[in-house]
Amino acid sequence: VLLPEVLRNVDSLKNQVGTWKQVGKTIGVVPTMGALHDGHLSLVRASLTEADVTVVTIFVNPTQFSPTEDLDSYPQTLESDLDKLSDVGNVWVFAPAVTEIYPADFSTSILAPAVSEPLEGEHRPNHFGGVATVVLKLFNLTEANFAFFGQKDFQQQRVVQQMVRDLNVPIKIRVCPIVREPDGLALSSRNVYLSSDEREIALSLSRTLNWAVGQILSGQRDGYELMVEMRQRLIDAGVTRVDYAAVADPHSLATMETIQLPVVLLLAATVGTTRLIDNEVVA
Ligand code: PAF
Repeated sequence: VLLPEVLRNVDSLKNQVGTWKQVGKTIGVVPTMGALHDGHLSLVRASLTEADVTVVTIFVNPTQFSPTEDLDSYPQTLESDLDKLSDVGNVWVFAPAVTEIYPADFSTSILAPAVSEPLEGEHRPNHFGGVATVVLKLFNLTEANFAFFGQKDFQQQRVVQQMVRDLNVPIKIRVCPIVREPDGLALSSRNVYLSSDEREIALSLSRTLNWAVGQILSGQRDGYELMVEMRQRLIDAGVTRVDYAAVADPHSLATMETIQLPVVLLLAATVGTTRLIDNEVVA
């Protein structure tokens, strides 16, 4: 199978997009930071099904990392990413250098919507501003009709959907289910950082979510109690730090003290030095 064509700069992408638009092709974009796993590939499959052409963007976006985060060590695996993509189907890859996206005189940015403020927003203050800015640029560059995001980054998909709505961006956002290992661990590019002992501890996130879903299905309506219990389960399992264990409204992400469906349960915890997130919606 042929490796995907890799476009390295804005001009070559714009030219290619122009040829597709001229013949009326619909475009799907799958924004990624590379280090592709089956979760990403499920987004690529969804795009291949819905759009005439699929552009996978691979760009480790510096503006969404804080100075203390893992920008410099973030896994970069372009060759194997291209191999994986070629197994899935016929896609184009846009993998620009940082200066293509952020030239020296770049200075505009998006103020992320209010839904960015709780949860991740409290622990990663400028993260969603960086995400929203690069995502809007990628939407504009690819002129995509559809964009595919994973439910794994639940708050991110809410931020993107709200931005698209608030700014009337002409694109349809599709959200695809979390892909998990057979034992429940949500796929993440950061899972490669986990030792085998840490990986065992990391399972406590999906196990805690499953347990909490069970509690809700059997009638638990006290959101506050459930949040305390979820946090305690993670700590008992040996996580290093719990950033949040939340029961929230899936639209606003505001904490729900009295549970009313639909509800989203969201966890963020550090195992060793690796920060993991997971979530589950109960509808
Ligand atoms: O989810 C990600 O990988 C990134 O946040 C995204 C959407 C590609 C923006 O850099």
